[in-house]
Amino acid sequence: MSLKPRKVVQVLEGQTIYPPPLWLMRQAGRYLPEYRQTRAIAGSFLDLCYTPDFAVEVTLQPIRRYGFDAAILFSDILVIPDALHRNVRFTEGLGPQMDPLAVEEVGALKGEETLSHLAPVIETVRRLRDELPEETALLGFCGAPWTVATYMIAGKGTPDQAPARLFAYQHPREFGFLLDLLADISADYLVAQIDAGADAVQIFDSWAGILGEQEFAEFAVKPVARMVASVKARRPGAKIIAFAKGAGLLLKDYRQKTGADAIGLDWTVPLAFARELQKDGPVQGNLDPVRVVAGGKSLEDGIDHILQELGNGPLIFNLGHGITPQANPEHVTALVNRVRGSIA
Ligand code: CP3
Repeated sequence: MSLKPRKVVQVLEGQTIYPPPLWLMRQAGRYLPEYRQTRAIAGSFLDLCYTPDFAVEVTLQPIRRYGFDAAILFSDILVIPDALHRNVRFTEGLGPQMDPLAVEEVGALKGEETLSHLAPVIETVRRLRDELPEETALLGFCGAPWTVATYMIAGKGTPDQAPARLFAYQHPREFGFLLDLLADISADYLVAQIDAGADAVQIFDSWAGILGEQEFAEFAVKPVARMVASVKARRPGAKIIAFAKGAGLLLKDYRQKTGADAIGLDWTVPLAFARELQKDGPVQGNLDPVRVVAGGKSLEDGIDHILQELGNGPLIFNLGHGITPQANPEHVTALVNRVRGSIA
């Protein structure tokens, strides 16, 4: 037990705290000069993820600079396909790439080596818990099976991840096998992160918003529910945030159906609807990251609006998606001061 309370954890338990605790998705990243410096020394992006000295350092950078209420493990959702030997590469300017997964290859995917492959990431979590201030929560994460599968099938990010949708429609049996495999190894990975000291974990379903109603139930809700059930059966106290980006109206009942403790909201979710969702449980979000690029009054207005509408219930203040490389680090300082300086 920690002596100083970790506010993010308290909100995940259902408490309302004002001003709300805050952290930012992708808070360690290219908008920070110190990140760019470490990144240059580390060499490749995956070397950065798999070298605890570097990964610990970049995770701590935004905590030192801004004192966020949570640190998020520095890694990537695509370490899971990397552990499945899909030849993952991050090429400057091209985004992530890997060998596209053919339907004939699905049955041969083996998850057994995942945790040994990801041992350096687990070591990073362990070291972080030792080095972080006591009051700072440590968040682990992984990708949701649907989102990870979209990259595995296309071999890269595409504007609408149509290759994965086509694969799902044409090969439902193999696609179901892939989602189950990803759910099971990702659940094991989250349990390992929790055991190493993560206070909570977030499941990123960044591509949930391109699914139809039936597919959302089948490809997004079902695998995430399978993961949450698996983690909670083994670690009953585990706290889980589920972030289904772009899911809109389909977020109704998403928390109950997945069994997550809290849901992440992107900036397109109307605040009145967010308030309805918040009656059922904690929410996290949902400032447009582009407001952080703009700064000034548009940044202040966006923050104030969220605090006014969602500040009376359990809220973790965050962006609606990752901070962009164009964000000015001083605008982040202004954001932190605005959220922390607000009075009820
Ligand atoms: O939030 C954090 O500070 C922790 C680190 C983190 C990264 N990726 C680091 C990263 C987290 C939580 C992620 C999650 C992730 N990765 C998601 C889900 C969230 C989202 O943004 O939708 C997805 C879809 C990925 C896959 C991925 N990784 C893409 C599409 C890219 C390229 C796009 C880009 O911004 O360059 C990455 C690379 C990546 N992951 C970078 C960082 C800091 C930039 C790479 C670099 O520094 O060269």
